[in-house]
Amino acid sequence: MKKISCFSYKGGAGRSTLALNVVPYLADILHATPDHPLILVDMDVDSCGITYFFNLEDYADIDRFSVQALFGTMGTIPRDDTAESVRDHTLFRHLCRVGKWFNYPHDAILCLPAEPGGSLGTSNYDGKFTKVNDFIEECSDYECCGILFDSAVGDQLTAIWSNQAADTIMCCLRPTKQFREGTQRFFDKFDERIARGKKIIVIPNVVPTEPLDIEDADGVKGYPEYAKSEILKSFADNVARGNNDYNLEMLEGDLFGVPKIDRFMWQEDILRSSSKLTETERFALSRYQKIAEIVCKS
Ligand SMILES: Nc1ncnc2c1ncn2[C@@H]1O[C@H](COP(=O)(O)OP(=O)(O)OP(=O)(O)O)[C@@H](O)[C@H]1O
Ligand SMILES: [Mg+2]
Repeated sequence: MKKISCFSYKGGAGRSTLALNVVPYLADILHATPDHPLILVDMDVDSCGITYFFNLEDYADIDRFSVQALFGTMGTIPRDDTAESVRDHTLFRHLCRVGKWFNYPHDAILCLPAEPGGSLGTSNYDGKFTKVNDFIEECSDYECCGILFDSAVGDQLTAIWSNQAADTIMCCLRPTKQFREGTQRFFDKFDERIARGKKIIVIPNVVPTEPLDIEDADGVKGYPEYAKSEILKSFADNVARGNNDYNLEMLEGDLFGVPKIDRFMWQEDILRSSSKLTETERFALSRYQKIAEIVCKS
């Protein structure tokens, strides 16, 4: 079972948008079906983008499961040894069906939402994130095809959980200096102290499609090429260290990462479910597909 975290070092990188747009391609490659669903978990408890996207902000009020209810201090992960399939199992029956948003069977993609603003604090951290592991184990026992955590930012508790649990981290960053350097420094610590053997896909997001010259104290810099070479340079040591497997394929070619999409400035959307696309949007779709392929290739 594939375990994926959609992470960024800092907020507003476009994590939730990236996660939602990669989902239909992940579902294709991992063969998501109602018997082998893809599970989405909104781990960003302070800024729960995918919960709002699916209009699930009041979901927990009607006695349903949420990240806080399951993974918080008082939570327990329902075990259901007698359930013959995902459909009969207490845990999966209480997750929210969201497949239709992606033109998939509604119960082929299930979501565990968060309660908006319901921070878990640090007192919940038992050092082992037992409940998240229990949740993953139950998903694996019942042959879910994958889990995608929309992570919190930086080293927030639920970001640590998401990244520790994942085998693959989609690391999203905007191409600005603060994002570039902050992200790289974050992964220096990650390499040294936190985790080994993860696939970390570096994904610049909201990259302008038109080349632009910007003058600063050091002279004129041509964007987005300059930002691209700075990201590649700064990650060279992490790649050489070899503690984690950095994938830089999204920095190859003329345009790197995911392009800036005008409609995303005004509405959250899933491009693949849309009937009419601009040329840039069609190009963005090919990038989301590529990301899903990189995530799933062994
Ligand atoms: N490719 C893109 N082109 C243009 N705008 C984008 C793109 N991707 C995301 N955005 C916009 O950037 C903003 C932040 O995106 P999003 O909410 O996905 O980021 P996030 O990292 O999940 O943020 P948060 O830290 O609040 O959870 C949103 O307004 C979104 O519409
Ligand atoms: Mg978000």
